[in-house]
Amino acid sequence: MFERLLGWLRGLFRKNSTPVFRSVPVKDAAKLAEAHAEGGFMAPWSSGDFEAMLADRSIVADGVYVGRSGGTLAGFVVSRVAADVAEILSIVIRKRFRKSGFGSRLMRFHQQKLVSRRIVSLFLEVEEGNMPARALYQRLGFERIGQRDAYYHKADGSTATAIVMKRSLQ
Ligand SMILES: CC(C)(COP(=O)(O)OP(=O)(O)OC[C@H]1O[C@@H](n2cnc3c(N)ncnc32)[C@H](O)[C@@H]1OP(=O)(O)O)[C@@H](O)C(=O)NCCC(=O)NCCS
Repeated sequence: MFERLLGWLRGLFRKNSTPVFRSVPVKDAAKLAEAHAEGGFMAPWSSGDFEAMLADRSIVADGVYVGRSGGTLAGFVVSRVAADVAEILSIVIRKRFRKSGFGSRLMRFHQQKLVSRRIVSLFLEVEEGNMPARALYQRLGFERIGQRDAYYHKADGSTATAIVMKRSLQ
């Protein structure tokens, strides 16, 4: 009886968790801010920051949505494009959805969209000690092209190195 209930619950969870990858509309700015607050960044971006970003034509924002009506934002990625290059400004998967492959799948979806916009190179910066993010980028084929010492300033007054990475989309 208990096993059957458990199986039913698992099935329900899987059904509700089938992720959908799509552009983030302006009306989801508050959801983006909520997710960004879970990113562990020094300066969280507000709902207003995201509204302004999403209204900017140089910004490409994609999200991964879950839940029965696909209304729960599990994570997002935002890039800025200029000519034929793009830079990842931020990527966050909400804590409870991490390590399920959402980050990799969202990045692949985003990269395909950038390719369709004729972007040939994608750049990003990542803190040297951010091992989950570095694992994600390495898995996606990004290469280290440089570093910026003392780039990040932390709450405790210390600084951290930024690693600059690039991936060709051609
Ligand atoms: C970085 C982040 C987006 C990864 O998202 P995710 O959905 O958990 O990533 P995935 O499940 O797709 O995993 C991608 C790869 O990274 C690895 N990885 C993920 N989390 C990891 C962790 N905590 N430690 C080590 N490796 C990790 C996975 O093992 C996987 O590699 P594999 O396929 O070879 O096993 C997520 O941890 C996050 O939102 N972090 C906070 C915000 C942040 O740091 N953003 C990046 C700023 S540059």
